[in-house]
Amino acid sequence: MLTLQSPAKINLFLKILGKRPDGYHEIASLFQAIDLCDTMHFKLSQEDTFTCSDPSLPTDENNLVIKARELFRRKTGRNNPVSIQLQKNIPHQAGLGGGSSNAATTLWALNQLCGTPATAEQLAAWGAEIGSDVSFFLSQGTAYCTGRGEKLLPLPSLNAQNVWIVKPPVGLSTPKVYSGLKLEVENQSKQFSVDAEALLVKFTSQKSNDKLPVFNDLEAPAFQLAPELAELKQKLETFGFSNVLMSGSGSAFFCLGDGNLPALASLNTYNCKFINRSPGKWYLP
Ligand code: C5P
Repeated sequence: MLTLQSPAKINLFLKILGKRPDGYHEIASLFQAIDLCDTMHFKLSQEDTFTCSDPSLPTDENNLVIKARELFRRKTGRNNPVSIQLQKNIPHQAGLGGGSSNAATTLWALNQLCGTPATAEQLAAWGAEIGSDVSFFLSQGTAYCTGRGEKLLPLPSLNAQNVWIVKPPVGLSTPKVYSGLKLEVENQSKQFSVDAEALLVKFTSQKSNDKLPVFNDLEAPAFQLAPELAELKQKLETFGFSNVLMSGSGSAFFCLGDGNLPALASLNTYNCKFINRSPGKWYLP
């Protein structure tokens, strides 16, 4: 039995550069893995099985775990039946990349169980066929991602940060948030003039108490779809954190720095840390 942690991510900044002819958006984003993790168990077996602790999630080919299993087989020709169990802890429709992380973890695990026919770089390239964020999870936990999110510049670990994740009851669909962005691009061209590469230098040379120049261009369309998110952000900003930002396409927020998060009715909160993995190793329990 191989037991692996499947971590969530946050986007420390997320800049939208424009819409592409294929319908995706060009992005420039600093991704960081955090230790809010699902747990996955993998075992070579007599037949394929897949179980998930969250009954609201599909367990057929609509689940990215099954997409990853089938992709691995197509790419490598290794068809060993496998039993997979997924224990969900990462909230979904949250912008935390839970499904993409599960897919990446599945690629890694099957590669281990089948005698490592692929390199980590190959797995990352294949992952992009499943979803834009999957490749990131095959990095070592900190990466600058461009293209539709699948082009990775791996980065050394950032300074250790305590991070609170706050997930409100509302969930958001990634395509809906992106499609609301078109108006934002036309109306607010100023916000798109930020130099992502210069920002990256600020993050990587950061001292532990610096206020980071975090931002997320998807906040505006997300707040249009769910106005209560703008109110939640304002409220979180009163608790003394140095930064409060929505992650990815939302609806979860992350709070950095030494704030104090009181118990908040109807919100799920998670106290987390940035995590990185060593080369050749996965995120261990
Ligand atoms: O790649 P993934 O399947 O995760 O993307 C889900 C949806 O999010 C896409 O179909 C697209 O509508 C939107 N998206 C986008 N630009 C990106 C990533 C995702 O428009 N860079």
